[in-house]
Amino acid sequence: MTTHDITLTVNGTDHDLEVESRTLLVYALREELGYTGTNVGCESSLCGACTVLLDGDAVKSCTTLAVQADGATVETVEGLGGRDDFHPIQTGFQEEHGLQCGYCTPGMMLTSVDLLEENSNPSDEEVREAIEGNLCRCTGYQNIVNAVQNAADQMAATDGGEDVDLTREYPTGDGDDGGEGA
Ligand code: FES
Ligand code: FES
Repeated sequence: MTTHDITLTVNGTDHDLEVESRTLLVYALREELGYTGTNVGCESSLCGACTVLLDGDAVKSCTTLAVQADGATVETVEGLGGRDDFHPIQTGFQEEHGLQCGYCTPGMMLTSVDLLEENSNPSDEEVREAIEGNLCRCTGYQNIVNAVQNAADQMAATDGGEDVDLTREYPTGDGDDGGEGA
């Protein structure tokens, strides 16, 4: 069994660990380092439950080898914010009821953070395109889109943006796309 010594900076904390060549990043995070907010669903890059930010980009950690991440920075859902200092995306999901069981939520939020860092004012269609690799079996997606738009509005307000409407009415998910895709 070949092992490798690697370093990961997770949510700002440096970790040295020894992993096998075959160890997937999601298992290094969950089982070696205890970041269990990163979920495992399909293990085949389809559902997005395992999404983390790797050097700032959203990746599926179930199909990324831990050794590929050697020296990288990783952000997991635990790094977004705590109970008293929510990241805007967490507030957005809370205020717009963007989750039900919550299994997809860590991956949804990190994919959305990646989107908002690249595009601070996405259209609903752009949000749907961004999250198309993240599946949710509960919400029907409309409330997730609303949550991302809510976060975009908060971030624009914080940045002193103009034309911000924090009282915006978001459409409800009633009778929307039936959960078959974003
Ligand atoms: S568990 Fe990684 S994409 Fe489904
Ligand atoms: S909230 Fe249940 S899978 Fe998305």
